[in-house]
Amino acid sequence: MNFKETLERKTRRASEVLIKYLPEEKGFQKRVLEAMNYSALAGGKRLRPILMEESFLLFGGSGALVEPFMAALEMIHNYSLVHDDLPAMDNDQYRRGRKTTWNVYGDGMAVLAGDGLLNLAFETAASAFDLAKDAQELKRTAAAMQVLGKKAGIYGMIGGQAADIEAESGRTLTEELLLFIHENKTAALIQAAMMIGAILAGADREAVLAMEKAAYNIGIAFQIQDDILDVTSTLEVLGKPVGSDEKNHKLTFVTLHGLEESKEEVKRMSKEALSILRSFDHKNEFFEELVDSLITRER
Ligand code: IPE
Ligand code: IPE
Ligand code: MG
Ligand code: MG
Ligand code: MG
Repeated sequence: MNFKETLERKTRRASEVLIKYLPEEKGFQKRVLEAMNYSALAGGKRLRPILMEESFLLFGGSGALVEPFMAALEMIHNYSLVHDDLPAMDNDQYRRGRKTTWNVYGDGMAVLAGDGLLNLAFETAASAFDLAKDAQELKRTAAAMQVLGKKAGIYGMIGGQAADIEAESGRTLTEELLLFIHENKTAALIQAAMMIGAILAGADREAVLAMEKAAYNIGIAFQIQDDILDVTSTLEVLGKPVGSDEKNHKLTFVTLHGLEESKEEVKRMSKEALSILRSFDHKNEFFEELVDSLITRER
């Protein structure tokens, strides 16, 4: 099987794991459940759960313990997008080739759908305690829950999104602030993916920290590429509006350094991540190919 086919298979698997934990659309709160599923089932690359499972495999993990965390992280990612698109944030009308959640269900329902996904994520992750086979797996599950909470929260994605919003309103953007924003709004969830995969597989502390660093590099490169595509792509290819950053007066790596330097930086950061991934005793060739493929991703 070639890389593309393997990626497709793994993307399908990540979606299937997620679907197992999504709510049934019934009851008086049916509408918010529909809005949650509308956003979660719109497609998307499923990059974070895939990275989590590859990291789990890299460190010799097996069994279903990782599945609730794969679903939970993708729920958190989807909630972050539902809120990111709101009129009060980026005010975007399209995502993954269809109307954004607020654009279909209204602002109020989109806020609640995001909240619903966030809460369901922790309920789902906590269900891993029921799957743990022994005291060691219980401890790993507890450690993974802490990483999930931290990297999704004020010292992670929410912190980065908050700084991102403030940076819109004319605050001078230094390199330091830009890196803070990228590291938190984007790299943090990728760090959660790769650290949790390693933790659940029983990797030691040093290896988990190395994965945190590799994921930092992947995450920064990922956001720079996102900002490049916001300038160079089209709605048809990207599935979301281009020019969103300019519309919102966002300063990005591209506005600071230009397209060419930005592309070089994506490559440099990705190669650094690859050298960390290659430094472990065990190999995961697909994982390396995946990171490499992100350098030239078009969506
Ligand atoms: C978009 O993430 C938001 C960023 C952090 C740049 P993805 O590009 O992973 O979005 P989907 O899930 O594939 O739609
Ligand atoms: C958002 O960055 C990162 C999130 C945490 C959602 P962007 O605002 O650039 O993401 P897109 O381009 O809308 O996907
Ligand atoms: Mg945004
Ligand atoms: Mg946005
Ligand atoms: Mg963007």
